Amino acid sequence: MNKVVLSFSGGLDTSVCVPLLRDRYQYEKVITVTVDVGQPQEDLEKAEARGARLSDKHYTVDAKNEFVEEYLFPLIKANGSYEGYTLGQAIARPLIAKKVLEVADREHVSAVAHGCTGKGNDQLRFEAIFRASKYKIHAPMRELNLARSEEIEYALEHGIDVSTTFEKPYSVDENLWSRSIEGGRLEDPSCSPPDDIFEWTTAPTKAKAQHQLSLEFEKGIPISLNGTRLSGLQLIKELNEVAGKHGVGRTDIMEDRILGLKAREIYEHPAATVILTAHKDLESLVLTRQERRFKDLVDSEWSELAYEGLLDEPLYAALEAFINKTQERVTGSVTMLLHKGMASVRARSSPNALYSEELVSFNDKSLDQRDAEGFSKYHGFQSRAYRKFVK
Ligand code: ARG
Repeated sequence: MNKVVLSFSGGLDTSVCVPLLRDRYQYEKVITVTVDVGQPQEDLEKAEARGARLSDKHYTVDAKNEFVEEYLFPLIKANGSYEGYTLGQAIARPLIAKKVLEVADREHVSAVAHGCTGKGNDQLRFEAIFRASKYKIHAPMRELNLARSEEIEYALEHGIDVSTTFEKPYSVDENLWSRSIEGGRLEDPSCSPPDDIFEWTTAPTKAKAQHQLSLEFEKGIPISLNGTRLSGLQLIKELNEVAGKHGVGRTDIMEDRILGLKAREIYEHPAATVILTAHKDLESLVLTRQERRFKDLVDSEWSELAYEGLLDEPLYAALEAFINKTQERVTGSVTMLLHKGMASVRARSSPNALYSEELVSFNDKSLDQRDAEGFSKYHGFQSRAYRKFVK
């Protein structure tokens, strides 16, 4: 039998893909797969109900822990950030694609499909993984180039409820690490976002009081909150709650997509902001000046590959090897203050600190300050030579 597996979020685009794959692509059986990477429970339930109703068979795959341990922990170690975006949607796509391929193998299908359009990054991230398999690939939204009105008409003909599409005219993608909001009138960069687009964060101006917390890391990974050991999943969930209440983690940027289009993107990512700020600060305490300078380059290269979904690129593995080596010493605690949209570092400590209060203090005499004079004679020597002034 002619079967296809579709990556399914339960939104309008992927819902419409189900009948399209039957009508326009002549598949006899359409199997939908929703991968749970920490989206809200009600979205998962909605996707499951819709998938079960529209398709011939539906799978919901729980990949939350794998998402945290295999994708978010490396992102934290790499201080993952692309133009200020904490990469939540980007880093989930290769995992979702991988889970879709696993179902494809189990179901002996001939093709896999996704609902991405031809304008965004997600199509490239999905297909970077799909194209390394034996399956045919379909992207109905991109291939059929339907206008929004045609899509809605087609949805109505096939009994797909479109009411939420009118209530919420934005395209939202949510997982444990980040919530992205785009489209509708937000597309215009000169339009200020209305406050009702935000769901994870209180408006910073309305956030109450302030809150202090400590975050403990072991080898670059956050392991406990205020001294209580938590799984990565629990820790991120809890930080999203706490920091979200204080308005932490809103980002509104002009983003350069892989295809070259500039797009206005809005994100909410409270836990990501707190964790990444604390992690980078702890690195500043334990890594050498040379390591930090080089790691900035490696981190930005890593982030570029993660943004593009090129996790199978050999360079990615090579960068990770360097990053993991540096993280062996990134153990310690960081105290953070959350206040009206800001997450700032208040204190940090580590058994591997390279800092020595004794040496830097003006009261200590174990280093003889006079030794620095010789050093200072050589410092800037070439600049003076260039100016033909050598003293
Ligand atoms: N601009 C972000 C990215 O490329 C957000 C993507 C949102 N995806 C979505 N299917 N709504 O990673």
